[in-house]
Amino acid sequence: MKEFLIDHIDPLGQGVFKESDEIYFIPKTLPGEKGTFEVLKSKKGVHFGALHSLTHQSQIRIEPECPFYSQCSGCHYQHTSKEEELNFKQNNLKRLLKKVDTQKASWINLISKKRYHYRNRLQLHYNKKLKIIGFHQRNSHKITPITNCILAVPEIQNKIQKLTKNNHWLNIIPAQEPVKGHLELYLINNDVQLTWNQAYAASGFSQVNQEVNEQLIQTIEDLFSQRNLKILDLFGGSGNLTRKIQSARCLSIDTHPQADYTLDLFKDDSLDSFIQKHQDPFDTFIVDPPRSGFKNLSKWVEHFQPQKILYVSCNPATMLRDISPEIQDYQLEAIYFIDFFPGTYHYEAAVLLNRRVN
Ligand SMILES: C[S@@+](CC[C@H](N)C(=O)[O-])C[C@H]1O[C@@H](n2cnc3c(N)ncnc32)[C@H](O)[C@@H]1O
Repeated sequence: MKEFLIDHIDPLGQGVFKESDEIYFIPKTLPGEKGTFEVLKSKKGVHFGALHSLTHQSQIRIEPECPFYSQCSGCHYQHTSKEEELNFKQNNLKRLLKKVDTQKASWINLISKKRYHYRNRLQLHYNKKLKIIGFHQRNSHKITPITNCILAVPEIQNKIQKLTKNNHWLNIIPAQEPVKGHLELYLINNDVQLTWNQAYAASGFSQVNQEVNEQLIQTIEDLFSQRNLKILDLFGGSGNLTRKIQSARCLSIDTHPQADYTLDLFKDDSLDSFIQKHQDPFDTFIVDPPRSGFKNLSKWVEHFQPQKILYVSCNPATMLRDISPEIQDYQLEAIYFIDFFPGTYHYEAAVLLNRRVN
């Protein structure tokens, strides 16, 4: 067992402790806290630990609501208040954005009213042989068995309780499913559907926090509805983000079968193949890629030269990478902090860029 003194919280919500040239990451700790921990994994001076005991507690520490919190890797901030969690995440976004000029940008928060009971989709991992189902432990494929998850909407919580009672899930898992795998539960039309061992959201991507999704859709309507715009909704899925915009012409591009135009945007020739079929101009981009971001953004911007770009992202680091080349030609007008995933280190961010020259 080793002693620690936490210096700060990293973007993954872990406490950071430095000693000589060694760095330690200890989840579920807070700045200023002291105690002991166990090193679980080490590589080239970087160590990942697990909290063992606290000898000095932070004043912002609270009792987690979930009984599985200390073992489960799904939540990262239950040991402090929602306000403190928001501070940590917003400071993280501010730190990332230091690399660009934010002086003229307004800061807008879209905050979830609910801290828990919001997720309409989640994945559990199972092991038939060991008869356990639950969440992975951090940095490991070991499963922490759970019988509930307070992040989930009540319908999914009820379903988890039924599935885990007397290991009922073992009676319903299709015989051909492998010994180890995952189960996805998602709410659709007030009903909880199950899929076994399929890719995340295989039946089509949908945002997991409906309340904050509605706030984001409203924000986009307020931004773009008044004018007669031609909007290209890149990674638009089934058109979720633009569904309230009436006056504009919107075209969504995605691999999703319900998109207006089905295209793999990561292919190097995606722009060429799109403009072969669509010669119309577009003056507004909404870009909402997966975590890996959209490295081809510059090509699309160079071709269409949109007046406004709203880039929405679940990974602000890749968003920053993608918008950085555009900052010469675009003014950063607004930054949105979007509280899509309370309780966890995840959040979304968006930036609104306005073209300086035409
Ligand atoms: C963060 S989601 C956003 C979806 C949509 N804007 C919404 O709010 O529901 C990312 C989207 O990227 C799409 N996607 C993933 N890889 C893609 C690719 N290679 N080309 C085009 N779309 C892709 C997914 O289908 C998904 O709809």
